[in-house]
Amino acid sequence: MSEVHIEEHSSPIKTPKQLIIVILLSFLVPIGLIVMLSQLLTTGINTGKGNPALTDEAVAARIKPVGQVEVTDPNAPKVEKSGKEIVETVCGACHTTGALNAPKIGDKAAWAPHLGMGLEKLTQSAIKGVRQMPARGGSPDLGDTEIARAIVYMANQSGASFKEPAAKAAPAKADAKGKAK
Ligand code: HEC
Repeated sequence: MSEVHIEEHSSPIKTPKQLIIVILLSFLVPIGLIVMLSQLLTTGINTGKGNPALTDEAVAARIKPVGQVEVTDPNAPKVEKSGKEIVETVCGACHTTGALNAPKIGDKAAWAPHLGMGLEKLTQSAIKGVRQMPARGGSPDLGDTEIARAIVYMANQSGASFKEPAAKAAPAKADAKGKAK
């Protein structure tokens, strides 16, 4: 009697048939899990066609080199920037906000006393700098024509109707310098 008692408490497996089932399940369950997992990994994630992270572009963007070198030829002809570009990248720092008391783009009253000088004198003034206004807006690589163009772009939104200087840099430069002397 007592033997039966012990058996009952020591294991839920009571017959050889149950034992065989348990052994079989202990093989089949892990194998089944592995099969399911491997299917999930191969079909669900890796080759998922609709996955936006796995398009050719996305993968190429992720594995592209970290650094990019841009080779520029210092002897290449300089591409002149438009007045708009220059104002947006250089002059705007002060002239769109009115920082340091710079005449603000669009503020006709602020520009009026400057505009009276005429484009040529304004250009000379911007090239040399005046009071808080740094020479060439602080970008010494800007050409005279580019400065003039930037002024035209700003001034024409502020009550002036200047004509934009011609695109050719060299003659315009010589002109401006010749007249300044
Ligand atoms: C660091 C701020 C700053 C930047 C950048 C700047 N300006 Fe100015 N600018 C000023 C200030 C301040 C004045 C007012 C100067 C004064 O009359 O006291 C001024 C005045 C001027 C005037 C009137 C000059 C005169 O004699 O009446 C022109 C023209 C001008 N700027 C053009 C430009 C152009 C073109 C650029 C970009 C290439 C530029 N500025 C970038 C601050 C700046």
